[in-house]
Amino acid sequence: MDKHRGYSTARPNSSSYSRYHNDERFRTSSSRYHDTYSPLKRQKTQPSSSETQTNASRNTTKPKPKPVIKPDLKFKLPTGPKATRLSLPSAPSSSKSSSPEKYIEFMKKIEIVGPIHERIQQVGQGTYGKVYKARNKITGELVALKKLKLETEKEGFPITANREVSLLQSFDHPNIAGLDEMMVEKNQVYMVFPYMNHDLSGLLQQSDIKITDAEKKNIFKQLLKGIEYLHKKRVIHRDIKGSNILIDTKGVLKITDFGLARTMKDINTKVKSPNYTNRVITLWYRPPEILLGSTDYGREIDIWGIGCLLLELFTRHPVFQGANDEIDQLLKIYNIMGTVSVDDWPEADKLPWFEMLRPNVHCPSRFKQFFGHKLTPHCFDLAEKLLSMNPHKRITATSALRHPYFLEEPRESPLMFLQTVKGEWHEFEAKKKRRQLKEAARQKAEAQM
Ligand SMILES: Nc1ncnc2c1ncn2[C@@H]1O[C@H](COP(=O)(O)OP(=O)(O)OP(=O)(O)O)[C@@H](O)[C@H]1O
Ligand SMILES: [Mg+2]
Repeated sequence: MDKHRGYSTARPNSSSYSRYHNDERFRTSSSRYHDTYSPLKRQKTQPSSSETQTNASRNTTKPKPKPVIKPDLKFKLPTGPKATRLSLPSAPSSSKSSSPEKYIEFMKKIEIVGPIHERIQQVGQGTYGKVYKARNKITGELVALKKLKLETEKEGFPITANREVSLLQSFDHPNIAGLDEMMVEKNQVYMVFPYMNHDLSGLLQQSDIKITDAEKKNIFKQLLKGIEYLHKKRVIHRDIKGSNILIDTKGVLKITDFGLARTMKDINTKVKSPNYTNRVITLWYRPPEILLGSTDYGREIDIWGIGCLLLELFTRHPVFQGANDEIDQLLKIYNIMGTVSVDDWPEADKLPWFEMLRPNVHCPSRFKQFFGHKLTPHCFDLAEKLLSMNPHKRITATSALRHPYFLEEPRESPLMFLQTVKGEWHEFEAKKKRRQLKEAARQKAEAQM
């Protein structure tokens, strides 16, 4: 029999949480088997004295002796934790279920109902687990189930997942993904999120999806608002990239994936360096200070990623595409932004890998040459400030939101393009489509040979 438990680790004030758990239709298979609701148990339960009195006053005739029911061993009740808050309103009434056959029928129905979520398709393959689109069979609500990888964990809950869940529970902002609840199904642990149709990477990879400058501004403003909220809470995301930026059909943007995020250490502590890991951020969005080995970084590392995304909105592809290693990634950055200069960034030569990775030649910035013609002067200025090589000179999210780019025409407008988008575009589907196109091209070339 299928065991499935939905339980309460979600935000206490989450509306979905209370709706879910107060809705009496909403229950788990183990709770369905809870013996309080078992028709067999009902047969065995003696009515209370008040019930007997009422029945006696209503019925003057002698009650018929009830049939003795022996439970069929095949349908032995599984043991499990009690779910006292959950009820079973659709259980057959005692009069209808006064035969073992009826009871067996009832139990068979429960078997069919099984897990609460019906999986529709996989929409994400992350480093730590898979993400599925699913429908809640009771409420009809679409959700994203993020499966946690537990195999590597010998004991207890993985620390990365633990951090991700606690952070998500502490957030409350329209531009940050909200965790509905945690769920355990067949020994797998899932985070349950409201479903979002697209992610930024998936959308940008579809060349037939046209996004106006006013819509790009809207996207970017929501992104900055989300990151400003995190940074005010002293949280660094540490994996800003297009596939972690979700967009729903109404045009609401949410930053997700807090698997690498952390709260910054208290600056008043006497430790010399916070000694954070530098094994963070997907390579193409990694800022120069991390690539040079910094372990004493701050919110600026997210701002670099935000700068990359501003450019990506216009170019439709990641701008610094290093080939697999940090050295090549640095070279890709140097090629556009120029090599690190200690005049501009005096602390750079104290970074652990600075000497080792010092380039032989000095390159000037060619940023204007690459992007000047693609952006308005204000937009270009903002991009330049977000992508400052010196992290201390990088603009903050709050200042970026006050940049003249947001005051110039065209002003931001609702994301109307979403109304004509065919399909749902996450990075996962975009990659799949690319693979299929590549395969089709290969087959065509083979046929022509
Ligand atoms: N709520 C959601 N609705 C729809 N799709 C989602 C949702 N959450 C995540 N996804 C999709 O699943 C993908 C992977 O999710 P997520 O980034 O949280 O996992 P991850 O394992 O940390 O991934 P990675 O290591 O690739 O960053 C996302 O890029 C996104 O496309
Ligand atoms: Mg991700």
